[in-house]
Amino acid sequence: MNSSQGSTSRREFIKTSGKSAAFSALATVAIPPVHATGSDLIQIALIGCGGRGGGAAANALSVKRGPVKLVAMADLFPERLASDLNKLKQSFPSQVDVPPDRQFLGFDAYQKAMDCLKPGDIAIFATPPAFRWVHFTYAIQKGLHVFMEKPLTADGPTSKRMFALAQEASAKNLKVGVGLMSRHSRALQELADRVHNGEIGEIVLQRGYRMHGPGGYFLSLPKPPGITDLLYQVKRFHSFIWASGGCFNDFYIHLIDHLGWMKNQWPVKAQALGGRHYKVSPDGVAYVDQNFDVYSVEYTYSDGAKFFFDGRCMNGCEEIYTSCLQGTKGMGIASKSGDCGLPSSLYKSQTATPTDLIWESKVSPDEKDPYQNEWNDLMDAIRDDKPYSEVKRGVEASLVASMGRMAANTGREITFDEMLQCDHDMAPNIEKFTMDSPAPLLADANGRYPVPQPGIVTTREY
Ligand SMILES: NC(=O)c1ccc[n+]([C@@H]2O[C@H](COP(=O)([O-])OP(=O)(O)OC[C@H]3O[C@@H](n4cnc5c(N)ncnc54)[C@H](O)[C@@H]3O)[C@@H](O)[C@H]2O)c1
Repeated sequence: MNSSQGSTSRREFIKTSGKSAAFSALATVAIPPVHATGSDLIQIALIGCGGRGGGAAANALSVKRGPVKLVAMADLFPERLASDLNKLKQSFPSQVDVPPDRQFLGFDAYQKAMDCLKPGDIAIFATPPAFRWVHFTYAIQKGLHVFMEKPLTADGPTSKRMFALAQEASAKNLKVGVGLMSRHSRALQELADRVHNGEIGEIVLQRGYRMHGPGGYFLSLPKPPGITDLLYQVKRFHSFIWASGGCFNDFYIHLIDHLGWMKNQWPVKAQALGGRHYKVSPDGVAYVDQNFDVYSVEYTYSDGAKFFFDGRCMNGCEEIYTSCLQGTKGMGIASKSGDCGLPSSLYKSQTATPTDLIWESKVSPDEKDPYQNEWNDLMDAIRDDKPYSEVKRGVEASLVASMGRMAANTGREITFDEMLQCDHDMAPNIEKFTMDSPAPLLADANGRYPVPQPGIVTTREY
């Protein structure tokens, strides 16, 4: 940790690490409400020590109802693990106890980290999404509660697997939080109540926009020497559909999720446009990621209502990052700015004119951070032994994202059911990956990976 980071306060660390841009036998036993260690201490293992993993661990260590301790960490890259560990130790000196023999590296590190926990402890999954079902399977076997980051899936076969695992976890009384933090925004919770009570009538139109410059691992140059294809793709997961669903799922799922929540149903189909415009670096080298620079999706709900989503990762264009809904009696702004930015508001007309305002959210200072709220809510459910699983709706939101992406990538209308039934398993044998495994995508002689070709490749995305 460098000296400028050394003074990072607990609050700042949590704030900056919330976003990607910054930072067998037991299986049959229901988990008892009293922690199995006989003490109140809940131990945490962090699997995936990147920006969000560090943020989620910080939120876990800051819950209102402790005591909580971080005891094990797992990653593929030693520098990632060390970086999160140092920052967390600095911010939470008495709650971080991860000696070298509880720091694990490699594709099986997740098992070793979870082996350090006892039933009733919590595993955090903040790796790229492709590994979710693998890690969740093991957590269920070990009787662990879980907090897993979004998205949960990128394809049909793993979505089916995750639905089944969700049921298995609930049958064992395991509590599972999913990092779709909009659901824990107190403003969006009140907005949902008001919208569901009909304050703006029937929702007939929704709009979501996430348009800004290329961020995260949106763009990738050909793999440099000194790293395997597999590790390159895992490291730059926003670039590769198998690893994350691409930028579409990873960046856009929050708006898709909370607009579906406001409508109280999921879209049943999507048709979409997308294209690659600027896929050459300033040095003239072709980028090899699988993302389109722009996506424009028309989602349709079963009652015919529409949800238009525009995504763009381009410099020099207008930046819009917001979500809103139009009803028969007025309109609402869900996220003013960003994934779920305050305040949310309702208007009695179809324009957000201040004089037409009928409600604006007011959230108490200690509940303004949805990343912290989601952890307080999960911990309450664990400590009070209340049923708690966000997995089913997290998979559904992931499927709706994948449906929009597949519609753009193939140039065809895609239904929710077709997305779920699509048999393209994008990362076969992922549960057996080792550092030497071949990557799910193979490059051609120029280092380029297959990219979507709408209208040409239409039954799979690449
Ligand atoms: N809820 C949110 O607002 C939010 C914000 C940012 C990221 N996220 C999500 O969190 C996840 C991680 O994103 P990030 O931005 O922290 O990425 P990141 O690259 O900073 O971190 C991912 C970490 O996981 C490690 N990793 C990869 N595969 C692994 C494996 N098989 N086992 C162990 N470790 C592995 C990587 O080495 C890396 O350190 C993604 O799913 C992303 O969508 C959510």
